[in-house]
Amino acid sequence: MRNIDSYGHVRGESLFVDDIIVRQDTLYGLTFDSPIAHGKIKNINYDKAAQVDGVIKIFTHKDINGENQIGGILPDEPLWAEDEVHFMGQPIAFIVAISESIAKKARALITIEIDELPVITTAKEAKEKGSYINAPRSFMLGDTEKAFTNCDYVFEGESFSNGQEHLYLETQGCYAVPMENGNIKITSSTQGPTAVQKIVARVLGVAMHTIEIDVIRLGGGFGGKEDQATPWAVMAAVAVQHLKKPVKYILNRHDDLRMTGKRHPYESTFKIGLTKDLKIKAFDVEFLQNSGAAADLSPAVAERTLFHATNSYFIPNVSSIIRSCKTNLPPNTAFRGFGGPQGMFVIESAIAHAAYKLGVDKSEIQEANLLTEGDEFSYGQIATQVEAKACWRMTKEAFQFDKLQKEVALFNKENTVLKKGLSLMPIAFGISFTNTQMNHARALIHIYQDGSVGVSTGAVEMGQSVNTKMLQITANTLGIHPSKVKLETTNTTRVANTSPSAASSTADLNGNAVLKACSALIKRLTKVAATMLSVEEEIISFKDDKVFVNNNKSDLFWEKVVEQAMSQRVALSENGHYATPVIHFDKTKEKGHPFAYHVYGTAITMVTVDCLRGTYKFDAVKIVHDFGKSMNLGIDIGQVEGALAQGIGWMTMEEIAFNEKGKLLSNTLSSYKVPDIFSVPKEIDIIPLETLGNHMAVLKSKAVGEPPLMYGIGAYFAIQDAVKAFNKNYQPKFHAPFTPEKVLMSLYADK
Ligand code: MTE
Ligand code: HPA
Ligand code: MOS
Repeated sequence: MRNIDSYGHVRGESLFVDDIIVRQDTLYGLTFDSPIAHGKIKNINYDKAAQVDGVIKIFTHKDINGENQIGGILPDEPLWAEDEVHFMGQPIAFIVAISESIAKKARALITIEIDELPVITTAKEAKEKGSYINAPRSFMLGDTEKAFTNCDYVFEGESFSNGQEHLYLETQGCYAVPMENGNIKITSSTQGPTAVQKIVARVLGVAMHTIEIDVIRLGGGFGGKEDQATPWAVMAAVAVQHLKKPVKYILNRHDDLRMTGKRHPYESTFKIGLTKDLKIKAFDVEFLQNSGAAADLSPAVAERTLFHATNSYFIPNVSSIIRSCKTNLPPNTAFRGFGGPQGMFVIESAIAHAAYKLGVDKSEIQEANLLTEGDEFSYGQIATQVEAKACWRMTKEAFQFDKLQKEVALFNKENTVLKKGLSLMPIAFGISFTNTQMNHARALIHIYQDGSVGVSTGAVEMGQSVNTKMLQITANTLGIHPSKVKLETTNTTRVANTSPSAASSTADLNGNAVLKACSALIKRLTKVAATMLSVEEEIISFKDDKVFVNNNKSDLFWEKVVEQAMSQRVALSENGHYATPVIHFDKTKEKGHPFAYHVYGTAITMVTVDCLRGTYKFDAVKIVHDFGKSMNLGIDIGQVEGALAQGIGWMTMEEIAFNEKGKLLSNTLSSYKVPDIFSVPKEIDIIPLETLGNHMAVLKSKAVGEPPLMYGIGAYFAIQDAVKAFNKNYQPKFHAPFTPEKVLMSLYADK
């Protein structure tokens, strides 16, 4: 089934926040933010700005009736700064005017004096100064100290990965409208409607039921709208509370880039120990996470880094620690993979480092250590239904890896200016929110009396096509044509207390809730149909808009059964609730079974490097991916392709840059390069691994949103392979992104 949004998207008819027809008395908001990364506010003068014709009011922390606190995990982030500022771009005030351009004019007239304080921009500096968000976390398995003494080889090194800008096509935004009795309805571009509702209520000092959040769809989120869609909606809501007029606030790209957090940069050190047969016996790693100026989701992201510190490998002795370092950058946040990619880049760096020192191919060490059934992860979960080796083997066989290696070697022998490189990248990604209590969802299904169906869930559509999957599950379970089913907006008054659409778990959680609700409805309708046909309930089923008896089509239509049920006063609505079974985690011991299952896969990346220019082109990426039993292969393959492009971008061309004053230098699309159609691999082959699927996945169709991003890590090591072919003296460094500038320097380092 094709994506139900494709028709509207292609025709430009799909609605986003900015497309809503606004009420006539709508006002427009704009943030005044800190021009300094760290300091004490001495004085702010709003007088000139307030006098601009058309400016209605300028809001500050003094206008807050509830708490000036928007922190999700830790209460460490004000909505608007009070006496101090902690990052450049930190919101201080909110200008509300009759137009956006007037608000902009007013903003330029605000003057501020700040006593500057020392600025920290890197995690290392923060560690030196003891500047942390919270206490460190540490996962341990076996005894690394003892294991290292028994290793034949021990290597140490360091690895750095940079941040990444989400660059959702639709910037952050919201539209807040006053309703009767002080209630407020907010249309928000958020992955977490309940998070927005909860924080708005907290800051306004009102009950959650007075705040309604509605989400139509997002023009991309990628984690950037899991928590960071909230502040803008809260600002607009504060203004609505005071002014009793609708307030619209859509960030322009410049403001969005400057004020929002990104993927966390990581500085890490590792020690890896191997035996002669290339078995990794011990791994010791310290991750320094650059969290930015407030916690945001950093503690949860940090946790996932530890969960993925050994990627798809079994290592019997692991000692891992992560420190969330407080710096003067915008609070970094969720980004596809949620700390997993950062963790995996370090173990891949360690393996590459060891391979270089030992003079073996990196893939030999990878292959020798792949996970198998029954292996224990450092957090205590026992790996089951492991597909690591199956994916690896199938990748090598189906895409003839040995032949590719020979072709590359031959090419490199015959060419001096162009060099090719190859890499293999296995992945194992845990599915479930690492915070067990978040793994639940609800769905509300109405069958209308004409037989058409409306579906509300807690799932937010952000381009990942979750709505199409929800529709598919509904139509399948009810046995009706998809055209009879409509997906409603995501609204807190219909489906409450939702977890954000994140952790790749949205379809699993909400889909299972849909499944449960539809099954309950079918049970009731079965009874009605059985009476109508005078047969036993057990032999009735619904399919193709008809009732089947003993798997034979009867003359009874879906609509007739619904009509009869209605006249018999049978409930045609149902609320389904699903909570992932089995999972648990004990944070005091750092052990448990946090994931419903893992997603596996392996990618081959082939690149050609221009050794005069340092530029590169990806010839091909060839993947075997574990979709389980995909319920929609077209959509799932689209997710793999998109995630791959985003992963390659993170590893190669996307370079976030801050200066020592904490100013974002890559603050435009001319100074921040994202992958475009020209940088996508010329060939992308994706083969689904054939399995029976995993019963913990909805309809055995595994989560797919984030895992394939980590195939992009293969791009770094493919380039490194090509550089080695050109420069025999090159000593591998692990400092992503591998931009053309860095490639050029590497090609000629010590040459
Ligand atoms: N795909 C598109 N087109 N747009 C997005 O914003 N977000 C990604 C992924 N795929 C995203 C996307 C992220 S970060 C996650 S966690 C998942 O989708 C969320 O959706 P799911 O849980 O339905 O997979
Ligand atoms: N993944 C994504 N988002 C999250 C998670 C997670 O594990 N936990 C909290 N938010
Ligand atoms: Mo995705 S980073 O879990 O929104």
